[in-house]
Amino acid sequence: MAVVLGIETSCDDTSVAVLDGTRQLSLITQNHLHEHVKYGGIVPEVASRQHMKAIGAVYRSALDSAQINPTDIDLIAATRGPGLAGSLIVGFNFARGLSTALSKPLVSVNHLEGHVYACWIGDNQHIPPSFPCVCLVVSGGHTELTVMDDDGYHRLLGRTRDDAAGEAFDKVARIMGLGFPGGPAIERYAELLGDMSAYNLPRAWLADSMDFSFSGLKTAVYRARNGLLGPTEERRIFKDGSYLDFQGLKRDSIVRMAAGFQESVVDVLTEKSAAAVKQVGAVSMVLAGGVAANTALRKSIKAKVGVPCFMPKMEHCMDNAAMIAMAGSIRWHSQMDHNLLYQDVDINPSLELGSGY
Ligand code: KG4
Ligand code: ZN
Repeated sequence: MAVVLGIETSCDDTSVAVLDGTRQLSLITQNHLHEHVKYGGIVPEVASRQHMKAIGAVYRSALDSAQINPTDIDLIAATRGPGLAGSLIVGFNFARGLSTALSKPLVSVNHLEGHVYACWIGDNQHIPPSFPCVCLVVSGGHTELTVMDDDGYHRLLGRTRDDAAGEAFDKVARIMGLGFPGGPAIERYAELLGDMSAYNLPRAWLADSMDFSFSGLKTAVYRARNGLLGPTEERRIFKDGSYLDFQGLKRDSIVRMAAGFQESVVDVLTEKSAAAVKQVGAVSMVLAGGVAANTALRKSIKAKVGVPCFMPKMEHCMDNAAMIAMAGSIRWHSQMDHNLLYQDVDINPSLELGSGY
């Protein structure tokens, strides 16, 4: 088994991980969201500079935590794209420097492929998904449904025509004033539904297409926004000291709206995944990406797709370097191509699932 160092800097997380085979020895992630909140979204230049400042220390902590020396590393894997160009360059160049200094091979990784391979991380007894496998990658920037016929081979079945699923969570949370990132916030409000009924919001089935669309749903929430006005409860404080603010809106309406929005997204993602599994005769399914952290979605997919479902542990749903190390390791060992020394490769901010590494 090889010791693999993974490096991920595609957006606002500086992350470095060490795997021994499929076993995680360390994962250190520094998130820089707080630096961006004051601007109301991710600012690319701020992101690159934060990665520059953080990468050295994050790398050293990942080695310390794994209790290894740089010379123990057999392989280096780094995200090549998709993502923010300036951010990708910081991580990929750091990896290139290490590869030169240590005389160890460098393998480039498609970030979306990394999300999928997060399901391969585990101890020695861990059994990975079998092929053909339907993959649904749902993140802040992507919603892609593919069938993976073998390691590294994806056929695209459908993708979003407008907003990504995570982006829809973020935008709807902003419309409702629930904070950023929107996914975890909406999920927490939706969990307060109890005996109330969720608002019935539209679902974009797009006839028989496997594509997705979430912009109509977002507009429906925007239109219904006035129905949320008028306070009944300002703040709900939980036993652990955490709280939810109702922003001067009607508590019940906001909860019913969050639940209705989540149900609509979960229904569409589940139905299309189940249809894809049937259509291609898949024997397993992978749900991955930040939105895969959503408990309602995990439960619904598990219950309805009819084949074994693989979902990353929560720490591997959001952007992290362990998934990059895992994808790089598989790529290296299965010799998916013959030019694995990537000293002269450029980053590629617009890679898609199945479009290369
Ligand atoms: O994969 P990721 O960490 O970054 C990208 O590559 O985009 O995904 C981030 C996205 C955000 O849009 C966030 O709102 C969403 O994942 N997300 C969730 C949940 N946790 C994170 N969406 C729904 N439910 C959640 N629990
Ligand atoms: Zn991601």
